[in-house]
Amino acid sequence: MSKKDSILVTGGAGFIGSNFVLTWIKEIGSPVINLDSLTYAGNRNNLQSLNDDSRHIFVHGDIADEALVARLLSEHKPTAIVHFAAESHVDRSIVGPDAFIKTNVFGTFSLLQSARAYYAGLNAEPQKAFRFLHVSTDEVYGSLAPDDPAFSETTPYAPNSPYAASKASSDHLVRAYFHTYGLPVLTTNCSNNYGFYQFPEKLIPLMILNSLEGKPLPVYGDGQNVRDWLFVEDHCSAIRAVLDRGRLGETYNIGGSSERKNIDVVTTICDLLDELAPSEKIGSRRKLISYVKDRPGHDRRYAIDARKIKQELGWEPAAQFESGIRKTVEWYLANQDWVENVRSGAYQQWIETNYAERVAR
Ligand code: NAD
Ligand code: TYD
Repeated sequence: MSKKDSILVTGGAGFIGSNFVLTWIKEIGSPVINLDSLTYAGNRNNLQSLNDDSRHIFVHGDIADEALVARLLSEHKPTAIVHFAAESHVDRSIVGPDAFIKTNVFGTFSLLQSARAYYAGLNAEPQKAFRFLHVSTDEVYGSLAPDDPAFSETTPYAPNSPYAASKASSDHLVRAYFHTYGLPVLTTNCSNNYGFYQFPEKLIPLMILNSLEGKPLPVYGDGQNVRDWLFVEDHCSAIRAVLDRGRLGETYNIGGSSERKNIDVVTTICDLLDELAPSEKIGSRRKLISYVKDRPGHDRRYAIDARKIKQELGWEPAAQFESGIRKTVEWYLANQDWVENVRSGAYQQWIETNYAERVAR
């Protein structure tokens, strides 16, 4: 990819999207058109450092707005679309699945239609270079028992939450556009991310902020559910590798080789906060842990077999969980202004909705 080739990123004001845009500008340096509808999860402050950078063009809009997307594509002629935009929180998908179907299924469908029309109108050379990269999740594969082998690219889909079902559905549409229309697609299925700019409704930032303030740490069920954690910048480097050298129509699993039980993640955060922000008033943060009512249909374990991306593309995560989580805690401590800014009325309302019924057990 040359310094002139622009890319269209969707959802680039969200957690992973904004990390992707920031690292893209740093590592590749070509222009990014960033289309984001700024839902509660989108935050322009994530990209504040690019305010005076002409390589970042922010567009406030919906992926389902085909006229807008067509205009952006014909104006900027991007060489790739990297599709992050989605509703992404399992608990919200349980409380209100509608938005998940609308954006993740219908929104992805609209974007594919726009991409297909754009691709058809390109000359042979730009057609050859064009890529549609769809960012998806390991949750499409369902849940593993403790001794099951990790998810590989051939594991059958078995989504269990409305979120996972909506992502599975979008993955299938992307696949169909390759086989039926020849759209040059790539799909990545990644494990749980953590890192800078993550909205504090997800496990890791929620636990960091509650620990800091001496609030209860709500662990669902018995705390033995397992996730494979990946530092977000490693996810971004994996996406760049797939975009650069991935085989068309293929899917690539991306993982951190860092399976951890939720309770172990939470105690690690407690100990880091005790070390980095000790408080006599709060004392040991582990005392704040509170087991609460489980999530309905809570997947027990996710694990990723990332051999394909390693063998084919030479990608491996750079961060270990222990160093990544320390950097993440330090980032939240150093960025209190960002935290205050995202904790709007909408955030407070969500905390009340999600935790009101989940009294400590
Ligand atoms: P996020 O919720 O933090 O960000 C989503 C972004 O998409 C927000 O900026 C939001 O404003 C935007 N958006 C939502 N609907 C839109 C629409 N209709 N049009 C335009 N923009 C819209 O999500 P995230 O955690 O950054 O996840 C990004 C992608 O990565 C998602 O597709 C998600 O399924 C996938 N993923 C996430 C994880 C994870 O651990 N967070 C893991 C694997 C895959
Ligand atoms: P989450 O960050 O919502 O990601 P996902 O559901 O996509 O894996 O949750 C990660 C794990 O942490 C999951 O097993 C649910 C659990 N969890 C809690 O125990 N307490 C909480 O308050 C939250 C938000 C999640």
